[in-house]
Amino acid sequence: MQELTVNLPGRSYQITIGTNHWSASLTKILQERNARQVVVVTNDALQRLYPDLLATELQQNGFETATCVIPDGEQHKTLADLTSIYDFLLERSANRKTWLIAFGGGVIGDMTGFAAGTFMRGIPFVQVPTTLLANVDSSVGGKTAVNHPLGKNMIGVFKQPEYVCIDLEFLKTLPIRELRAGYFELAKHGLIHDRSLFEFLQQQTLEPLDFEFLEEAVTRSCDVKRRVVEEDEHETGLRATLNFGHTLGHLIETHAGYGQWLHGEAVGTGMLFATYVSWQEGHLTEENYQRIRDFLLPLLPEVTLPQLDAMAFRALLLHDKKAENQAVNFILLRSLGECFIQRQMSVETLWEHFGRFLETFPRACRLAA
Ligand SMILES: NC(=O)c1ccc[n+]([C@@H]2O[C@H](COP(=O)([O-])OP(=O)(O)OC[C@H]3O[C@@H](n4cnc5c(N)ncnc54)[C@H](O)[C@@H]3O)[C@@H](O)[C@H]2O)c1
Ligand SMILES: [Zn+2]
Repeated sequence: MQELTVNLPGRSYQITIGTNHWSASLTKILQERNARQVVVVTNDALQRLYPDLLATELQQNGFETATCVIPDGEQHKTLADLTSIYDFLLERSANRKTWLIAFGGGVIGDMTGFAAGTFMRGIPFVQVPTTLLANVDSSVGGKTAVNHPLGKNMIGVFKQPEYVCIDLEFLKTLPIRELRAGYFELAKHGLIHDRSLFEFLQQQTLEPLDFEFLEEAVTRSCDVKRRVVEEDEHETGLRATLNFGHTLGHLIETHAGYGQWLHGEAVGTGMLFATYVSWQEGHLTEENYQRIRDFLLPLLPEVTLPQLDAMAFRALLLHDKKAENQAVNFILLRSLGECFIQRQMSVETLWEHFGRFLETFPRACRLAA
């Protein structure tokens, strides 16, 4: 088992990464912190796979527990569904000493964190992430949110967990497509901030699952996120570099229609694009470009997008058809494991790169005829 500490002013917390340790680790922190009432928040899919697993175990270890089950899916990351968590807590006379445990992927983590940040002006919560994406990305850093009909993650608070318990055993039941999608966010941390992580990933394939390899990879990836969050908790600078690959990624998610491509898959394609642009713009050497390209290509899905012209491309990148602005901030690689924010990158230039990108990688990304 490996351990990291996120050091934030007045709110340090631990992340442990390993296998078959969740029961002992959760019991330890809850006992140390004198928790009595514990509410596990999860979704119906996980509840079917692991019926009352955490609640039953923690009850045997002396805590008063209950499981709050909400429907599975990003479409339920809403204020309305959040209300059902508050209802559940109030019906069980939860108070300021009640602990929440988020048991699930990023959706459950974001909603439970939001509930913990707002219920009675804030109660403690623990992340037990069960997807690879949540392991390395959403469970660390304290961003929580729900979606609004007019935009994703529009309503939220910063709320750091008291502890993040990463037990890789839960990945055994994760659909392979979700696993592969999360791997792009894991690798992203290597590409932008940690060359040795990228080189470590190059030594082995993700499949078949090897828990020793994963423990090391997840730990190093979380460590990058930890460093970034410690330096820039509220995203005034450095934290924006975590958006590497997300410009085209978001375009793919939106333009293909939400749900067509998983977030991580779209970001994977976006990472290849951002790497290609970094090379074309003369920031990345040919050798590093080829290394990253050859790593990403075999992992990428084959994305087909509806037709797209310069106007639609611009509107999608700027999120607003009427925007006067012609430029975006774009994350580029300077080297393997080193990135920078290119401010005011012209959308026109990106459109030109995108055209060449489609010609160069017709399998990874193409426009429908
Ligand atoms: N807060 C942040 O910093 C941050 C960062 C990145 C992403 N996010 C958010 O995270 C969400 C995406 O997270 P995600 O990719 O984990 O998606 P998710 O939470 O929807 O989980 C993906 C699917 O896998 C299922 N699942 C989860 N764990 C499983 C397991 N062990 N076995 C079988 N099935 C399992 C879920 O029920 C779901 O159907 C988005 O809402 C995104 O906005 C937040
Ligand atoms: Zn992402």
